[in-house]
Amino acid sequence: MSTPIVIDTDPGVDDAVAIMLALASPEVEVRAITTVFGNVALESTTANAGRILALCDRADVPVAAGAARPLVHPQRERAQQWHGGDGLGGRASALPAPAAEPEARGAVETMAAVLRASAEPVTLVPIGPLTNVALLLAVHPELTSRITRIVWMGGSLGAGNTSGAAEFNAHCDPEAAHRVLTQADVPVTMVPLDLTLRCPAGPAWLDSLAGAGPRCGELAQVIAHYRAAYRARYGMDAVAVHDAVAVLEAVLPGTLRTTAMPIEVACDLGPARGATVAMPLGPGPSVQVALEADTDAVLTEILERLSRLN
Ligand code: BDR
Ligand code: CA
Repeated sequence: MSTPIVIDTDPGVDDAVAIMLALASPEVEVRAITTVFGNVALESTTANAGRILALCDRADVPVAAGAARPLVHPQRERAQQWHGGDGLGGRASALPAPAAEPEARGAVETMAAVLRASAEPVTLVPIGPLTNVALLLAVHPELTSRITRIVWMGGSLGAGNTSGAAEFNAHCDPEAAHRVLTQADVPVTMVPLDLTLRCPAGPAWLDSLAGAGPRCGELAQVIAHYRAAYRARYGMDAVAVHDAVAVLEAVLPGTLRTTAMPIEVACDLGPARGATVAMPLGPGPSVQVALEADTDAVLTEILERLSRLN
């Protein structure tokens, strides 16, 4: 029996890899894809989710649009420099158009409907800012027992990638991250930069992806701009597939090794805004922070699964 999941996402190049990984994995059933602002504006992330589903011939998976902005303060930065102005490395219009309109009821009510309708508890896999998930927990506390756990790609115990202190998804909406990471009703696994940056997909991986049939070939073209941005910024020919690492943990629980610790999020307006700070002696509920994995095996597993899509 497969595990029901909802992916909450801001596609996003590595989001595209992550969504396709989930669609390629029989261990999970993607009950909905909900979208959020983040790498680019909500309108684009929503269209991109529909395009990725169309590429994979999965118009049966509903898409619902969520928050266009953070809970409290305006978003400080988008990430077009990594993901391209359209969010998919300039390739969005080369993908098939979305086969269906987004759900009229929106992301939060779509997640709620999935939770209510599912015979089994559902795993939520947010791979963008946590705005929609924070709203779900606030609006529908009666549904928390229907959520197995939240597996979030985001945060960092070390350096950030958007400021010196903050990872992008946390930086986009620190108040939402604080709301989700400091609650005790639903277990949270956080997949931070500390681990995802240790899983770089290099030229051999990218070449294999490009040669794995038409869908993976298209995905490789989507990645090309992101790859060039990594080369320009870090001088290395490899890309971090952050969001796919989190999805793999949802698909194969236990793939990543976690350490339990309370996490607090800096929500002041100073330079550390969005930092996710470990509070080992703190009183708060513990988050399972994924800090260790067999990183070669993670990349091999992701590639092997994506290759099944064709
Ligand atoms: C996260 O930020 C986004 O740009 C990526 O899609 C990923 O979710 C990595 O910091
Ligand atoms: Ca993302």
